[in-house]
Amino acid sequence: MYPELNPFTPGSGLRPPRLAGRDREIAAFDLIVARSLARRTDASIVLHGYRGVGKTVLLNAMRTQAENAGWLCIDVEAQPSDTGAVRLRQQLGRKLHEAAEQFKKGKAYSEAVRRALGTLTGFSLSLGVVSIETAREPAGHRARSGVLEVDLEELVEDFADALRETGSAIGIFIDEMQDVDDEMLSALLTVQNRAGQKEIPFYVVGAGLPTLPARLSGARSYAERLFDYRHIGALAAESAVAAIKEPLIRNNFHIDDDALAMLTRDAKGYPYFLQLFGREAWNLTGSRLIDVDVASRALASAYQNLDQGYFRSSWDRADASERRVLRYMAAQEQLDEYGVDDVAENVGLSSQAFVGARESLTNKGVIFTSGPGRIAFTTPGMPGHVKRRSEQLG
Ligand SMILES: Nc1ncnc2c1ncn2[C@@H]1O[C@H](COP(=O)(O)OP(=O)(O)O)[C@@H](O)[C@H]1O
Ligand SMILES: [Mg+2]
Repeated sequence: MYPELNPFTPGSGLRPPRLAGRDREIAAFDLIVARSLARRTDASIVLHGYRGVGKTVLLNAMRTQAENAGWLCIDVEAQPSDTGAVRLRQQLGRKLHEAAEQFKKGKAYSEAVRRALGTLTGFSLSLGVVSIETAREPAGHRARSGVLEVDLEELVEDFADALRETGSAIGIFIDEMQDVDDEMLSALLTVQNRAGQKEIPFYVVGAGLPTLPARLSGARSYAERLFDYRHIGALAAESAVAAIKEPLIRNNFHIDDDALAMLTRDAKGYPYFLQLFGREAWNLTGSRLIDVDVASRALASAYQNLDQGYFRSSWDRADASERRVLRYMAAQEQLDEYGVDDVAENVGLSSQAFVGARESLTNKGVIFTSGPGRIAFTTPGMPGHVKRRSEQLG
């Protein structure tokens, strides 16, 4: 009913009607921001977790917090491959200029601000983002060496003076940070480290897949100490309830306890599913009431949607051995976790083939190591999808 007013937001990076269960992360970042205003520097934050858990949404919320406190914020999204590396530099250059334009507004053109903008122009020239002809400000002599690490550090240093005048900070918010190329990653970590030592208010705030912490440590051994790493996962039961129930109540809809229990049981706290189930239930009810009947039709419709889209590639991209592993896991009813030894023994593959399939499924983010000797699906509902796809194949 009233699909045009539907508040739920299944998708990528779409801010949900109720950002549930992330108070601790928001508070931790609030403290960093508050301390930056008091000129106290801290380790920054890196969020990591599987897709669909709400990392992008949380990163965006943190950026808004920082912007509201007057930080100079730059947000970029990394992409794999060489073209991704080029695009990242372009994005960084362009967004730095946009942020600098904002920053300039209403400010006295102090010596520090003038120097910062000159260095920014030099940095952009060195990145190849602007040419001398198109540059808005005369370039200074700094941040033009062509060595990313050196240039970025000079840029941050020169901005720091201008920012200190106003008690502000620079935040570079990087989504999909695991895909940042080696050169850029090393530069960012080095500059973050030096900034900490020199008490320069510069923060790289990142979000990425569970491989991200290891990637950062691999790039710089001190990376572990640069960041407060936060694992972002499924929502706790009461937050999952709030994520569905509050937007409904706010819009004068009502949901039966049993219907709510059905939706949250299947979603297992997984934010993307909560949004999808909420959206379907809203659209399918003929009144303002969501009862068990509506909830079961909502789930059926949601799974149809997931089979066509979200889940589809996991199965399509799996080879024969991987499908065997998926099928075996899916056939073990009602399990959230699987013993590796049990799967290895019973899946009907050579141990070498099993090891390969497990590694490949892990790299693709379909399964993960949930504990010593244990594996699990990264997404709830995957067992059902595997069964339906296997049945189609006969
Ligand atoms: N805390 C939350 N409460 C409710 N829904 C959320 C929450 N965080 C994210 N979502 C929803 O989950 C989905 C995935 O969010 P997204 O930030 O794109 O995840 P990720 O970046 O981890 O893949 C979106 O539909 C979003 O609206
Ligand atoms: Mg994301």
